[in-house]
Amino acid sequence: MRTSFITSKTAPTKVDAVLVPVASSGPLPAGLGYTREQLSGLGFEGASSQTLTLPGSGGSKATVLIGVGELRELGSNELRNIAATAARACARYESVSTTLATVRRSAAKENAHVIVEGMALALHRWVDLKNDKGGLPKLTKVTLVAATDTASVKAGMDAGVTTATAVCMARDLANTPPSHLTARQFAEIATSVARTSGLKSTVYNRDELQAMGCGGLVGVNAGSVEPPRMVKLEYTPAKSSSHVVLVGKGVMYDSGGISLKPSDASHASMKMDMSGAAAVLATMSALRSLKVKTKVTAYLMCTDNLPSGSAMKLGDVLTMRNGKTVEIHNTDAEGRLILADGLSLGAESKPDAMLDIATLTGACMGALGKHMAGILGNDSGVLAQLKMSSARTDELVWELPFHRPYRSLLDSNVADMRNIGGPLGGAITAALFLGEFAGDTPWAHIDMAGPMEADGDNGWLNRGATAYGTRLLIDFCANFKKSSSRSK
Ligand code: BES
Ligand code: ZN
Ligand code: MN
Repeated sequence: MRTSFITSKTAPTKVDAVLVPVASSGPLPAGLGYTREQLSGLGFEGASSQTLTLPGSGGSKATVLIGVGELRELGSNELRNIAATAARACARYESVSTTLATVRRSAAKENAHVIVEGMALALHRWVDLKNDKGGLPKLTKVTLVAATDTASVKAGMDAGVTTATAVCMARDLANTPPSHLTARQFAEIATSVARTSGLKSTVYNRDELQAMGCGGLVGVNAGSVEPPRMVKLEYTPAKSSSHVVLVGKGVMYDSGGISLKPSDASHASMKMDMSGAAAVLATMSALRSLKVKTKVTAYLMCTDNLPSGSAMKLGDVLTMRNGKTVEIHNTDAEGRLILADGLSLGAESKPDAMLDIATLTGACMGALGKHMAGILGNDSGVLAQLKMSSARTDELVWELPFHRPYRSLLDSNVADMRNIGGPLGGAITAALFLGEFAGDTPWAHIDMAGPMEADGDNGWLNRGATAYGTRLLIDFCANFKKSSSRSK
């Protein structure tokens, strides 16, 4: 993350631009030098996310007005997007100061938190492989001015910096091309992130995975010259009375394997098939800074999915970590195979809740589009907590039915199950497959195939990898409450 944020009680004297929040009704900020009629004449009414740049006065080169609409209607998710739009409007200035964090008087901490997220995420770019870095936003220094509630603004700002830094890391990883980020390299990065974030990390190689019975991860990897890696990360706070397990799909590149995907330009985005693992790693990186009280264990399941003479074949049967056998009917349904081992391992520790996150099915994207993930699971309490996290983070979810009768679509003649159902209900049959490995553990699955990538810049989203799930999972872990609502 390139933007740095500071909090100040007073407006700094030397900045390139001052960002001024303007509501659509009520008095204008003092000293603006314009009336509502004049602003209106310039096409600016203070509507949510409207912007207007005015020539500077005093120590600044410019005044940028940002509309916040009707104050009593202003929610945190809207404020995050307003801040994102404001950051884009200020991208040509190096330094900006703003009182935006004081806009909702009773919510200084929350204001600062979402403003930092919105600005930092809108300004994020991945340019490691560009020689010409000329087009980058110049804005790297933001001062949040708050005469009162300064400590609350500072606390919210710090939390926002932690979550935004995590999101930027996950975006960078997902944007990185597959030959620049192998499973081995991903595990090395995870190990160094663990070192700086107070986590215990353990990396498992192919032989160790084989010995542990992780037939799914080893099987998917069989066609690749690059070996697989599983990374276990453990966050153990001083006192914890609950335990959450996270499992992330880390397919570094999904060619489909022997069931090769047709050559189509959109498959360049299959470098992002490790977005689930990236979101889990990013989540883990934030827990200590945020003083999360729940113990969290993560499994990053990393390999690519490639065809070759040694690749797994259709009709092959894999034995997974929990002993269940799976007949392969399509090698492109690989995500569930590697998640199966992670979920089996997670379930062995009998956590209070387990989540997996994966770019799992085109079917889920077909059902819900690119704005939201599908969620399914065996526990209404876990699903309810996930929905609350979604409402707070604006990372949208929609529950799909975990319809047990469809389990028969996975029946196999030769093994305990096959790895695909029929042509219909693909997001549901994929989740039912995963449920076989979650067992009795309260569990929910997040299918983020749709929101993995954004087509354009909009609010806190930028074109490219979104790092969807990072803020959702951080919020889930930070607010997790044990419940016993296993009702499905
Ligand atoms: N990684 C893909 C799913 C995907 C598709 C993610 C598009 C993001 C965008 C997954 O491994 C896959 O190939 N799924 C198959 C499953 C099918 C063979 C049952 C699919 O959705 O076609
Ligand atoms: Zn995949
Ligand atoms: Mn696939």
